[in-house]
Amino acid sequence: MSKEIIKYSSAPLKGEINPPGDKSISHRSLILGSIANGTSLVKDFLISDDTISTANAMRALGITIEINGTQVEIIGKGLYGLSKPEKVIDCGNSGTTTRLLSGLLSAQTFTSTLTGDKYLQARPMRRVVGPLTLMGAQIAGKDDGNKLPLTITGTKLKGIRYELPVPSAQVKSAILLAGLYAEGETEVIESEASRDHTERMLSYLGVPIKKNGNSIKMNSVDVINPGEIIVPADISSAAFFIVAALITPGSEVLIKNVGVNPLRTGIIDILKNMGGNIEIINEREVNGEPIGDIVARSSNLHATEISGELIPKAIDELPLVAVAACFAEGETLIRDAKELRVKETDRIKAMATELEKLGARVLEFEDGMSIMGSQSLTGSVCSSWGDHRIAMSIAIAATRARGETKILDAECVSVSYPGFFKVIDELRR
Ligand code: S3P
Repeated sequence: MSKEIIKYSSAPLKGEINPPGDKSISHRSLILGSIANGTSLVKDFLISDDTISTANAMRALGITIEINGTQVEIIGKGLYGLSKPEKVIDCGNSGTTTRLLSGLLSAQTFTSTLTGDKYLQARPMRRVVGPLTLMGAQIAGKDDGNKLPLTITGTKLKGIRYELPVPSAQVKSAILLAGLYAEGETEVIESEASRDHTERMLSYLGVPIKKNGNSIKMNSVDVINPGEIIVPADISSAAFFIVAALITPGSEVLIKNVGVNPLRTGIIDILKNMGGNIEIINEREVNGEPIGDIVARSSNLHATEISGELIPKAIDELPLVAVAACFAEGETLIRDAKELRVKETDRIKAMATELEKLGARVLEFEDGMSIMGSQSLTGSVCSSWGDHRIAMSIAIAATRARGETKILDAECVSVSYPGFFKVIDELRR
């Protein structure tokens, strides 16, 4: 169990940052590349524990994947080219690997089993097992199919029309991946839009996807084209340094080539509403995904209220919003965010507990929290709760907490951002 020590510093943050590739897009490039007809090349791929879980899962299904630095070559075998794995597939900490593969494996001609680490084993799977079962899938799991391990017996699927009860890109993607094989039309309806990387990548690789308002429709296909995929830098990783720059006087950082898909930029909308000085420049598109460079400068922040459709657009950044709120004038309110309780850990409880150790005043609700701003923070001994985003959020708060903060169990940052702690030191130099 490694620990990290973050010391307070009044030094402004200056410089250019190149965060690693987007985690969601990296997972999808491996999965779709594996079932494409031919070789795909992925550039600026995220090398992290979660994406390596997907790479190893696809290898276990008979796919050759060569990783060279951040460049990945996937030799796709087509929609019907996967083979029965010899062992149980270990998805590690990765919910995306598990849920997306549940959809894909439901349609194969063999039986396979998915499991994961103790955090993933505690997370709900009924949300994917339910709709996939309606499509005809045969899935058995612990706790009446709600928990890992899941054993999936591939079978012929049929299309369904499914209204998502909770906005979830993972559930939507599992259904769409199953829909690639299903008889008849598959339709997913979202009450609030979640990230659409699967739909964008499928379209980019030649699969017709019909989007109309909050409905996504597709039919099975015979072929997915291979392609060259350039992965944008992950806005969820960039966000830590956007907030660090806003709360540190005299700072200005330039964050390059960041994915600015409008269903992921909720964090920028929220921080701008709080008075954050953030600009997106040099906007362009790569393989169907918008990207840009982000400039963030120190700012006088004020409180905000966040709820409704903004929540799925900033779901992974809400712990970090709580950090920004500690440095904003007034009381910030986050509601409609019950989903945070079933992420890698209960992120509402984790943030309330750890920020309070630093001297913040946080009130927990079942579906969110309120954070009283402008309290001065003091270093303490904090836990990551084994969750990468908790470790990094607390680290950013710690940069502005008097004295020093120890973060225990900090190695979990490698789930999405290996090298994260080094970047803090580099920017302070
Ligand atoms: C993800 C979707 C989100 C997000 C997760 C990655 C994805 O989860 O929190 O980090 O890649 O589809 P949900 O679909 O559970 O909201």
